[in-house]
Amino acid sequence: MANFKFEVKARDAAGRIGKLTLNGKTVETPAIMPVINPKQLIVTPKELKEMGFRMVITNSYIIYKTPELREQALKEGIHNLLGYDGIIEVDSGSFQLMRYGDVEVTNSEIVKFQHDIGVDVGTFLDIPTPPDVSHEKAEEDLRITLERAKEAEGIKEIAMNAAVQGSTYPDLRTYAAKKLSEMNFEIHPVGAVVPLMESYRYKDLVDVVIASKHGLRPDRPVHLFGAGHPMIFALAVAMGIDLFDSASYALYAKDNRYLTPEGTKRLDELDYFPCSCPVCSRYTPQELREMPKEERTRLLALHNLWVIREELNRVKQSIKEGTLWELVDERARSHPKLYAAYKRLLEYREYLEKNEPVTKGSAFFKVSREALKWPTAVRAKERAERVKPKFLETVNHPIFGEIPKYLSLSYPFAQSEGEENFTIEKPAREEARNYIMAIAEYQFGEGAGEAFKDAFVELSRKTGMPRQIKVKGKHLATFRSADGLLTLGIEGAKRLHKVLPFPGMRVVIDEDAEPFARKGKNVFAKFVVDADQGIRPYDEVLIVNRNDELLATGQTLLNGEELKAFQQGLAVKVRRGVGE
Ligand code: GUN
Ligand code: ZN
Repeated sequence: MANFKFEVKARDAAGRIGKLTLNGKTVETPAIMPVINPKQLIVTPKELKEMGFRMVITNSYIIYKTPELREQALKEGIHNLLGYDGIIEVDSGSFQLMRYGDVEVTNSEIVKFQHDIGVDVGTFLDIPTPPDVSHEKAEEDLRITLERAKEAEGIKEIAMNAAVQGSTYPDLRTYAAKKLSEMNFEIHPVGAVVPLMESYRYKDLVDVVIASKHGLRPDRPVHLFGAGHPMIFALAVAMGIDLFDSASYALYAKDNRYLTPEGTKRLDELDYFPCSCPVCSRYTPQELREMPKEERTRLLALHNLWVIREELNRVKQSIKEGTLWELVDERARSHPKLYAAYKRLLEYREYLEKNEPVTKGSAFFKVSREALKWPTAVRAKERAERVKPKFLETVNHPIFGEIPKYLSLSYPFAQSEGEENFTIEKPAREEARNYIMAIAEYQFGEGAGEAFKDAFVELSRKTGMPRQIKVKGKHLATFRSADGLLTLGIEGAKRLHKVLPFPGMRVVIDEDAEPFARKGKNVFAKFVVDADQGIRPYDEVLIVNRNDELLATGQTLLNGEELKAFQQGLAVKVRRGVGE
């Protein structure tokens, strides 16, 4: 069996930076696989690798149907055939099935062939049902796709894609996703979305992706099949897409089209290149137009690949910074249909909220009206409501309206930029404890403030802001100056554990991992047996054993649902163990 591993490293919105390991090769996600047409190489696989593309996709059906390629692939393996030693994924002919209505291979034949030529990731012969067919037709196609999934599962010994189908019916997409999640597959593409993207139906694309994500296990990478235009990367990653593939870099190049993160341009309409890649730095649009077709196609393809790479890096950097929503917002302005899709995505409040980090490295920027619908803003207002009955005093915030005064130091209220400034007042000595209690309620849930009811709050002499929170000289928690939230010390964790009923803020781990957690070592996902479903990414959590005895406290990378699902990678970065 293929050794396949997928771990989350960082996240923002519902997007994530992940590490995918397969057959000893790794690739960081979100990643895009350039499509290689083995019959016509515009850019060689070696060049793709040198440009940083560590994973490519090609079509096993084309190889199967072309006698010379088939023979060579069977003899030397697909890596030698393509001259590429990175990760090679293959499609099955499903796309040809959708475009031409027929393929001359069976499901088991193509899966076996994929094994025989040594691919890293295979794909069975799913049926890409187009948008807008009848529910009956979509259901019937899906029944066959699921049958083929079963058949492929029975013979597979390699990592394999299992594409979610179901046309434009959310119920079928969710159902398919659930069924495939129960089976032994490694990657889940969202299939048959090319027709939606070709006609700019991005809003429908959002519905299809979210319905699929709804049913999918959260611990498997998700591939948006046939998506490779940089203008949708930010939006797609924000929905939770990890992989893309692009034939467009070559197809568009052949058609004299030039990709930008804001859309596609025709070479004919360009006086200047809005890009400084090696191609655009060296030539003018006019010079490119005057070149022989073949040379021009190759250069346009290279430019297209550079922008794809650049936009993906921009998306990844924004995840690291916690500014992915800002980027999505910005990109949404480049096309009305993309804007509509962005607005639709923001309607999926529950899905977005459960994946949204509770803290970020950057301030909340109110760059648009939509920013008030970002999950950070929605959550902050909701959580502030639970603080209001206990702490009646409020202040007026230029972005968030009336907020509890004692939350005015905390994310995102203090760490925000709008058109008008919010003046942060230093806490008065006699009110300092109220701030901490209110923050605890806001951060950990109702009743959490009790844990700090007799606490002493040290105020920084330099800034006047809270620093350490203690009781009788013992350290309970630290007020983080960066986000105005609390990091628990072990005494604080013990108190929180006492006042919050199970399962509040708990991550329950297996007894094998108990001694390590007690010593302050990190908790890995495979040891987690249960978790509070209300836990959100980057929450400070309580690590307990099955008897609910406190073992440690730390910051979780995963939300409650993911804590239970993931079997690989880090779950909680432990700050302190009870036995240290
Ligand atoms: N390429 C683009 N869309 C699809 C799809 O739905 N299934 C497969 N197998 N390949 C695709
Ligand atoms: Zn360029």
